[in-house]
Amino acid sequence: MTGVNESNTSVIEEVLISEDDIKRRVKELAEAIDRDYKGRSLFLLSILSGSFIFMADIVRALTIPVNVNFIFASSYGSSTVSSGDVKILDGKGFDPSGKDILIVEDIIDTGRTLYALREKLLNSGAKSVEICTFLDKPSRRVVSVDARYIGFDIPDKFAVGYGLDYNDMYRQFPFVGVLKPELYQN
Ligand code: IMP
Ligand code: MG
Repeated sequence: MTGVNESNTSVIEEVLISEDDIKRRVKELAEAIDRDYKGRSLFLLSILSGSFIFMADIVRALTIPVNVNFIFASSYGSSTVSSGDVKILDGKGFDPSGKDILIVEDIIDTGRTLYALREKLLNSGAKSVEICTFLDKPSRRVVSVDARYIGFDIPDKFAVGYGLDYNDMYRQFPFVGVLKPELYQN
């Protein structure tokens, strides 16, 4: 297992996506975004904290000029089941009006976070709002959300690594893995 070392072998049950596969896919996604937004003024909006690593890799793989922005959104608290209560915190006061926005997210699970955020941006006058998600768990969807760019579909397992966390831990792993259930089941 590439990228697996003493600090993570003990908590990872299975590697879902390797570091090499992530690198290849990020490059492909960036090429598609480059093509689709060429000649337009693109505003990237990264949802913290989970997308920080994906965002950093995507922006460096893009060749078109982009405006880089961050907001906080959370629906989880410290559990592994979505609460459905989505909180959006915008520290710097991002003004969506008239902008072509591409939301960069770590994972779509129930779809609640992105549904709420997309509505909020469109209601505030955004010109367009598309979604680029690193992971998708389609089997878990409660609210319908269309992502234009999807890195990988994954099964209904709790994933960590490449920015994804459990209680803000394990974000540092360069791969995506499934956390051993005994680490969050009690
Ligand atoms: P949704 O609103 O249910 O779609 O939840 C999306 C958010 O839940 C993501 O941005 C993640 O922060 C978190 N999340 C969902 N599934 C996982 C997972 O498997 N591992 C870590 N975080 C997850
Ligand atoms: Mg998140």
